[in-house]
Amino acid sequence: MSDLSKLQSWKNLEIKSRQISKISLNQMFKEDKDRFKKYSITIKDLLFDYSKNHIDKNLFQSFVQLLNDVDLNRKIKALFNGEKINSSEDRPVMHFLLRGSYNSKTKNIYNNTVKKCLIKMKSFYEDFKDGKIGVKKIKNIINIGIGGSDLGPKMVCNALEHYSKNQINIFFISNIDPNNMTEVLKKLDPEESIFIISSKSFGTIETLKNGLECIKWFNNKSKSNFSEHFFAVTSNIEKAKSFGIKEKNIFPIWDWVGGRYSFWSAVGLPIMLKIGYNNFLTLLKGAKDIDYHFQNEPFDKNIPVILACIGIIYNNFFKCETQAILPYDEYLKYLPMYLQQADMESNGKSISNDSKKVKYQTGPIIWGDIGTNGQHAFFQLIHQGTKYIPCDFIGFSKSNNEKSDLHEILLSNLIGQTSALMKGKTLKEAQIEVNDKKKKSNYKILLNSKLFEGNKPSTTILFNKLNPYNLGRLIAIYEHKIFVQGCIWNINSFDQWGVELGKELANKIHKIFKSKDFENIDSSSKGQLDFILKTRSS
Ligand code: F6P
Repeated sequence: MSDLSKLQSWKNLEIKSRQISKISLNQMFKEDKDRFKKYSITIKDLLFDYSKNHIDKNLFQSFVQLLNDVDLNRKIKALFNGEKINSSEDRPVMHFLLRGSYNSKTKNIYNNTVKKCLIKMKSFYEDFKDGKIGVKKIKNIINIGIGGSDLGPKMVCNALEHYSKNQINIFFISNIDPNNMTEVLKKLDPEESIFIISSKSFGTIETLKNGLECIKWFNNKSKSNFSEHFFAVTSNIEKAKSFGIKEKNIFPIWDWVGGRYSFWSAVGLPIMLKIGYNNFLTLLKGAKDIDYHFQNEPFDKNIPVILACIGIIYNNFFKCETQAILPYDEYLKYLPMYLQQADMESNGKSISNDSKKVKYQTGPIIWGDIGTNGQHAFFQLIHQGTKYIPCDFIGFSKSNNEKSDLHEILLSNLIGQTSALMKGKTLKEAQIEVNDKKKKSNYKILLNSKLFEGNKPSTTILFNKLNPYNLGRLIAIYEHKIFVQGCIWNINSFDQWGVELGKELANKIHKIFKSKDFENIDSSSKGQLDFILKTRSS
């Protein structure tokens, strides 16, 4: 199975993709007045419009055949039944349990873990609200964590700023770079602050070092007992205890929650403290509804499955290397970064589940930024560059902060961009535009520079409003899309061995830093170290 290309359905999909690539998007819309109706899905204030993509019913049929060949239905069941689908780590993957999506096979696990933890989180939230935590009123929450223990809570806290219930500031210390911690701590009174050390493994060097430094800082600045101000979220309770965190201050997670899928757990404690318990539950409910949708809708009405199909077509057959994520909402500025980890750490793999090197492309490069800012930065390349970049546009009908017609202009830009990408600008249109410059010496270059090839695809996801429920839905859609693509590529989307080698070598180099024993190191690394050591002491 590691050679997907041998499957007839894969070959058919390749042929159909090639055929459809010859028909322009404009042409498809011209020929089919119902194209939008046919290639969009609306559910409860959510519009998923994939009509501006190189896709049609015929191509999708081949995709469904492929899904049957890779046994997607069985794999979805295996996921939700808690089978050990994370093969290299020999464990199940059950982040969906965190939002209450259990079945008869997983209900006990839910009751013994998630449910109990939610009760503990709620009671902590109540104490926090009632000012029972710490000596003074707590104004600052500092999350210490990296990767999934940082990006998720950071993205959601920022996204749901508008739903902030409590007058608190949330800070994130993730980087081992001391500049991160310095800039955060310099504004804070320790007695008005609590620290949440979030690390599933409680073995991540950045987090542990930053945690220790924060304890040192706290002890230097305050006479209170640090252990009343330090909390932990981890699956390694013993390690957290020996680090000095009181057992009552430790919130559990479990090995079946991947770091990049973890903000639904106690890793989301800063989110709950910010938006309140009920809003946190609504966030979970949004994701739970998508879990249901994903498990129950037929493939041709299943948003994560269709999104996965679009990604496969561009990644594997149109040979696109990247996928842009373009949220048109300032509050979602960390979304591209968040999805970068979710997607690239999950599907950036080249060893198949049957231990062979894959012979096809797997996960794309995910990148992006908020609109309209991106339009004034990198959209030039998307419109007129040599690369073909599928784009996901995300927007909301209503703003959380309506101000005259600003939001309408924002949304006009979103739609304007998707249609400009598709429509392009013909020679005729450009000629009309520069007609009055005909006599100028630069007329030809100006005219040609004004051409837009068009035919550039985009998918648009619109909700009525950015709120906890819709954010939960949005993230779960992407999570399941990543899962489906991993199933097709026959890779394990839930391990991340690719980050280990760099960590090992950083440890070795750190020892050289201290010992100055430069043997067994390449000349470039030695040269860099020499330079650093010399310039550090000068
Ligand atoms: O190095 C990668 C990684 O393992 C991520 O997958 C994870 O989100 C991050 O490090 C942090 O891990 P932990 O929560 O165990 O500190």
